[in-house]
Amino acid sequence: MNATDRDCGSRTIELIRDVRAHLRYLAELGATHVEESPASRDLLKEWLERAHSLSTRSDEHARGLPASPREALEATVEEETPKEEEPMASKRRASAETRPERAAEQPALFGDLPLLPAAPPIEDSTLDDIRADVGECTRCKLHRSRTTIVFGEGDPRARILFVGEGPGAEEDAQGRPFVGRAGQLLNRMIEAMGFRREEVYITNVVMCRPPSNRTPEPDEIATCEPFLFRKIRVIKPDVVVALGAIAAQSLLGTKAPIGQIRGRFFDAHGTKVLPTFHPAFLLRAPERKREAWEDLKKVRDYVLSRSRSEEATR
Ligand code: URA
Repeated sequence: MNATDRDCGSRTIELIRDVRAHLRYLAELGATHVEESPASRDLLKEWLERAHSLSTRSDEHARGLPASPREALEATVEEETPKEEEPMASKRRASAETRPERAAEQPALFGDLPLLPAAPPIEDSTLDDIRADVGECTRCKLHRSRTTIVFGEGDPRARILFVGEGPGAEEDAQGRPFVGRAGQLLNRMIEAMGFRREEVYITNVVMCRPPSNRTPEPDEIATCEPFLFRKIRVIKPDVVVALGAIAAQSLLGTKAPIGQIRGRFFDAHGTKVLPTFHPAFLLRAPERKREAWEDLKKVRDYVLSRSRSEEATR
């Protein structure tokens, strides 16, 4: 074995450690379906590909090391993971069963994956707890160009939670979600449903503005979405309205296009999730507003029927 081989081998092991550390970090933040999140999966896939390209340059494998990064990962995990099923693993499986569209489309990266440590999801008491944990966040590269972290706003006990993609220029300047043109349309949509903006909660998948309003990247989504999932667990809304593809894909762990999944209720994160078009898209394609309105009426009717039946049982 020469020095280059040794270097490749140890860099591969380092990458494996990185992957494991990232999984542990996500679990600490409360992520419960890392194996199924497109964002996390893309990130892990990228690491694995890098690891694979390094490892195939080395002849270490011929000397009894695992034959692929995946096997290397599994071998490392095998050594460190207790054999009995961890509560988190069974919880993850249970939640996967409630999410349609995903299992068939996206095989888990590490098979049955007892990869995450058994850390339970973080259970916050209030949104302030989560805000305190976010702090002056520097966890992903978006912190470099943001002015303000846009955490979200509204009634912490809202029945409806609207989730967008990420702050734009206005939101970044004011530190409030949906205050630009798309926000004005969202306000009108909320009012048309018979609610006031203050009665719902509004947030985004990522809390920092992506430069030039580009789409958030998979690593940025993977870093920020655990906070979104924690917000849902605290607010316990009747319905989460996913505004646009990025929110729907993050919340449902699917890659399905928004046109295919909009207007349907999905069970995820302990509540109902209904994807619909993003208001910014509706500004560009006003002829699709009618479909969005049909979706929002379903949300309104569902929420009203829940509050009526709650009143009846009081
Ligand atoms: N678009 C979003 O997705 N979120 C905002 O907060 C504003 C515009």
